[in-house]
Formats: sequence, C-alpha cells, structure tokens
Amino acid sequence: MKPRPVIAGNWKMNMDPLEAREFFRAFHPEFSPGRHPTLLIFPPFVTLAAALNARPEDPRVELGVQNIFWEESGAFTGEVSAVLARAAGATHTLIGHSERRHVFGEQDEDVARKVGAALKAGLVPVVCVGETLEERRGGRLQEVILRQLDAVLPVLSNDADATFILAYEPVWAIGTGETATPDDASQAHGMLRRRLQERLGDVRAADTPILYGGSVKPDNAAELLRAPEVDGVLVGGASLDPASFLAIARAGMPLT
Ligand code: 13P
Repeated sequence: MKPRPVIAGNWKMNMDPLEAREFFRAFHPEFSPGRHPTLLIFPPFVTLAAALNARPEDPRVELGVQNIFWEESGAFTGEVSAVLARAAGATHTLIGHSERRHVFGEQDEDVARKVGAALKAGLVPVVCVGETLEERRGGRLQEVILRQLDAVLPVLSNDADATFILAYEPVWAIGTGETATPDDASQAHGMLRRRLQERLGDVRAADTPILYGGSVKPDNAAELLRAPEVDGVLVGGASLDPASFLAIARAGMPLT
C-alpha cells in the first residue's frame, strides 16, 4: 500500500492575511483516526502568521514558506532565512520552484545551498524539479530532472537523518491547464526514485515522498494520486479555493 499522501498547496503571490482567514473559515478537513493525508500549505511570508492563527487546530495541517535565503541572518535586505521562517512557525519550505528558477534565475547551486540551510534550521525542504517544454521535446527530460536532483544529493547524503520531499513539476504544465498524464508523472517519478535508491539507498528512497505538480484540479487529482510512484500533489491555482483543495485532499484519501 502507498504511504499516506502529501497534499500540498502553493499559494504563490496570492492571499493576504484577511483572505487566509476566510480560507480557513471554509477549510475544515475532518480526518479519519489513524489514516489521513498530510496537508501542507505554503502562504506568502506576510500571510504566514495569519494562516497559523487561522488554520485548524490540528498538527496534520502544516504551514511552510515558498522560498528562503541560505544565510542565517545579516544585511540581506528583502530576504528571509530558514532560521527566521522556522521561528515564525513554518515547518517546510519549497526550494527551487520553477518560478524561482525561471523568473528569478535561481541556479542548481543556489538550490543546494538553500537545502543545506533549511535542514540546518529544522525545516523540511520540498525540492522542486521539472523540465521545460523545449527540453522535453528535445528528449532531455531525464537529463534535466536528474541534473537538478543531483545538485542537492550531496547535501542530503551528508545528513543521514534529513527528511525531505521531492516535487516533480513539469514547467509546461504549471498554470497552463495542461496536465502531465498519470503515465508521464509515473515515468518521471520512477527516474527520480531510482536515482534516490542509487545515491541514498532503498530505505530513504522509499521514505521520500515524490509529489506531482502542474494543473492539478479536483477532477484529475484521483487518477494522478493512484499512479505508481506518485505520493502526493503540489497544487497551485486550485489550492486557493478551500472547496477545491478539500476535494483534492479527499481524492488522496477519504476523510470522514
Ligand atoms: P498550478 O496548479 O496552478 O498549475 O501550479 C502548480 C505549481 O506550480 C505548484 O507549485
């Protein structure tokens, strides 16, 4: 049986504190005892405190940040460190989201430094990888996603206790309504899993959730979540609506 799924919502640059409070007024997952999905929500930094106050009193709904800087503190105007994010109540952080890579020019080495900083501060990194349409059409899917994964593996293999999550988000499927098929997702996740097995061993590879992201909606979530090697989903647009996000969570595992 698959481990319990991780259902994650990336709010991106949306949702002010008031909107977050409204979201959680409508978002009431009722978990079955024992078996439940892990729910993660990534609000903008400025909304984290409001979301923490407003979320259900349930440790199964956790909050993370969408990005961190690798230094711990100092003269880095506009940046937020992993230490600050952890102190503010985040438990997870996205790292290397394709919008960070493609809009803000983040490189593989930056992603690796951020993963190291997250682990040191006690945040679980959610490392995002994914190919562009051009790379996919050029037959470079495997090369690109394994290069992105390889960049962070030295940091992860140095710390045998490090818990982390991977997210495969093909750039061509993000915000486009174009979803990878369950087979596409399984194929890419299989490549990532095999690399984890080679570098970190079978146990850690099996324990690491690999999420799919890119136009996940209530009507395609169930088939994606059933696909081999897919351990959860990272949802953008559809996570802004409490009813849609709840429907996606239910697709992962029946709530009561
Ligand atoms: P969409 O679900 O809006 O395509 O966004 C996916 C994503 O980038 C999640 O991190």
